[in-house]
Amino acid sequence: MSAPPYRLDGKVALVTGASRGLGRRFAQTLAGAGARVAATGRATELLDGLVGEIGEAGGTARAFPLDVTEAAGVRAAVAAVEETLGPIGILVNNSGIAITKPFLKFEESDWDRVMDTNLKGAWLVAREVAERMVAHARGGKIINIASIGASVALGQLSAYCVSKAGIAHLTRTMAVELARYDIQVNAIAPGYVETDMNRDFFATSGGKDLIRRAVPQRRLGQPEDLDGALMLLASDASRFMTGSIIAVDGGHSIA
Ligand SMILES: NC(=O)c1ccc[n+]([C@@H]2O[C@H](COP(=O)([O-])OP(=O)(O)OC[C@H]3O[C@@H](n4cnc5c(N)ncnc54)[C@H](OP(=O)(O)O)[C@@H]3O)[C@@H](O)[C@H]2O)c1
Repeated sequence: MSAPPYRLDGKVALVTGASRGLGRRFAQTLAGAGARVAATGRATELLDGLVGEIGEAGGTARAFPLDVTEAAGVRAAVAAVEETLGPIGILVNNSGIAITKPFLKFEESDWDRVMDTNLKGAWLVAREVAERMVAHARGGKIINIASIGASVALGQLSAYCVSKAGIAHLTRTMAVELARYDIQVNAIAPGYVETDMNRDFFATSGGKDLIRRAVPQRRLGQPEDLDGALMLLASDASRFMTGSIIAVDGGHSIA
């Protein structure tokens, strides 16, 4: 019997928003599976710390400053990654922000910040990387990070939910167009997972109550709960999957 095809030796993986939270874990997991990882984001000190940790654990990673809202910067950073590490085979489009405010209080600038980061930013990075994947003619894996908010209307998160619904459909539209180049485009839709984005709220009694009421598995997710979906979508195990949105949410979206 052959071993499951989960090793990523020889692959280059770019992770956006690797400085914290889920992106940090994604970078560690991909490096642990043998990929050379480009850890990107704006907080360069945090990225340098992550790269050091990955190196100490026997993996390979490099830090690259990248603000997903700046098109010229995206182009330059992706070029720098390929010059340093080689052709990108895996992209994890993870950068994202949430602004929590009632719909009636939402300002135009709030809307623009969320959309520019979560939707336009993901599109800019995906377009840049996909163009290079096509040119290299080696196929590739693009993994967009959506959210339970793509399918469930979460209170006080209107722009966030719309941006993530956009990510889910961007995933499908890209999947259709890029299939002919052997590029698979899929998404992970996490439920509530403990990170800087939500730690304070889930420590409150309101946050704990929400988890008990809304999540059938009755617990808050941890970044490592996404390892399985990430490795499926990053590896050859998902070779006949494209345009899929995988919920990893303790049952939240079906309850
Ligand atoms: N945690 C959850 O419960 C949950 C659930 C569903 C979906 N998600 C999604 O998962 C992703 C990661 O969330 P998280 O919980 O890990 O959040 P987090 O801890 O707040 O981390 C967000 C990451 O996004 C990066 N980022 C923000 N703005 C950026 C920009 N303009 N350019 C580049 N990077 C930027 C940040 O890096 P820098 O500050 O260094 O730029 C940071 O590394 C997001 O897309 C989020 O919507 C999270």
